[in-house]
Amino acid sequence: MAIPLRRVIVANSVALAPSFGALAGLYWSGTLAGRPALIAMAGIGVVTVFLVQRYLGSLARFARFVGELSDEREPVMPRLSFAPATEELATAAATLSLGWRRQRASIDNLAASAQAIVDGLPDPLIAVDRQRRVVRTNLAAGALLGPVGAERDLSTALRYPQLLSAVDALLETGPDGNFAGADQSAVEFVLAGPPEIDVVAHLRRLPRAAADGSLALIVLHDTTAQRRAERMRADFVANASHELKTPIAGLAGFIETLRGPARDDTDARERFLGIMAEQADRMRRLVDDLLMLSRIEQHEHARPDREIDLDRVLRGVLDLLQLKAAARGVGIELAVDADLPKAVGDHDELTIVFQNLIDNALKYARPATVVRVTAERAGPARVAVAVSDEGDGIPATHLPRLTERFYRVDTARSRQLGGTGLGLAIVKHVVNRHRGRLDIQSTPGKGSTFTVTLPAAG
Ligand SMILES: Nc1ncnc2c1ncn2[C@@H]1O[C@H](COP(=O)(O)OP(=O)(O)O)[C@@H](O)[C@H]1O
Ligand SMILES: [Mg+2]
Repeated sequence: MAIPLRRVIVANSVALAPSFGALAGLYWSGTLAGRPALIAMAGIGVVTVFLVQRYLGSLARFARFVGELSDEREPVMPRLSFAPATEELATAAATLSLGWRRQRASIDNLAASAQAIVDGLPDPLIAVDRQRRVVRTNLAAGALLGPVGAERDLSTALRYPQLLSAVDALLETGPDGNFAGADQSAVEFVLAGPPEIDVVAHLRRLPRAAADGSLALIVLHDTTAQRRAERMRADFVANASHELKTPIAGLAGFIETLRGPARDDTDARERFLGIMAEQADRMRRLVDDLLMLSRIEQHEHARPDREIDLDRVLRGVLDLLQLKAAARGVGIELAVDADLPKAVGDHDELTIVFQNLIDNALKYARPATVVRVTAERAGPARVAVAVSDEGDGIPATHLPRLTERFYRVDTARSRQLGGTGLGLAIVKHVVNRHRGRLDIQSTPGKGSTFTVTLPAAG
């Protein structure tokens, strides 16, 4: 680095002035002859210029070093041997800068971990500043809304009047400059689809703006599943009540008739009592299925851990259903792999599963056909039981909803066959509890295959 000439001249002049002055005085007073005075001046001049040059060089290096301390990388400490004091200064400056570096690193760290925490939140979060501009978003918000341009007005990301006016209310200040409203609120709205998402937005104003300008936080909470569950529960109660209401009304009607007009009609009484027994039976089946469903739901999250011999389960079910099969003129064939591993499950619950599936197959099979039940290995550590019938099959549009409670393809036919519409819902719940799968394949006009895959033991 070049040292400015002016500085060189000034420094040399200042350094030389006293000795030159003294030599000139000695010369004028006659103490020193002209020649030795000039020689002394020349000697002193050379040494001084040399020292001043080195000294100024050291200072310049020191200045450059201090300047570089604020750069990204720490500079190498220069050699400052001709200015020992600057060396100490340089060491002190380096220590200071190291402190700064550490502090800046920890501030960067804090900022990064704050963002990591915000990103870790499962719900979308958006922070806006006093002008309602987006300052910060987390990963979930990015996933939901796509890239949200920072510094853009919130309305460019979320154009929902209810939300925007709630945010405005939160940020509104009165004439005295203080915030006018409450520091938190919540609004519900539906995010346009597909798929539409029910959300509740929780809004909160910070006590004062954060370093990045964030003043209000918006957290969107997806309530779609909750809404659906609420709706399903309401539907379920309505459906269950409705299913019970019909046989109860029937029973009440027959009782009325038996007490009144048909009091002495033995034939009618016999007939009515038969129908009443049927209705009572239907109610019993319905209540049994409802109780079963609620029992399975109660421990749906506890996974069964017993080792189960599926061959035994299936034979037990076939014994129970043999009579019904014979009555409907439908045959049942059972084929179990010789080396079928045990399944992990609950004997009683799996009995109910296969009872329901085989019962359906018998019900919906055409007469003089065969219902086939097979059990075999399916991939590593799984076993699959398939129940196939040659029946009318199920149109594809119904398949996704078939395991919903009370969902039937043909309600009148299901009722007439003694069904409650809860069988497949029970099957689905049990299979879920077993961490298994239920697959339904059906070809209208040909038949259906219901396959349950379960974890195998060991
Ligand atoms: N093997 C099958 N063949 C044709 N349709 C079936 C079969 N299994 C079930 N279904 C259809 O699925 C509906 C729901 O079955 P499920 O829950 O067991 O009720 P259900 O009490 O009517 O048997 C039935 O009403 C029927 O429409
Ligand atoms: Mg059924």
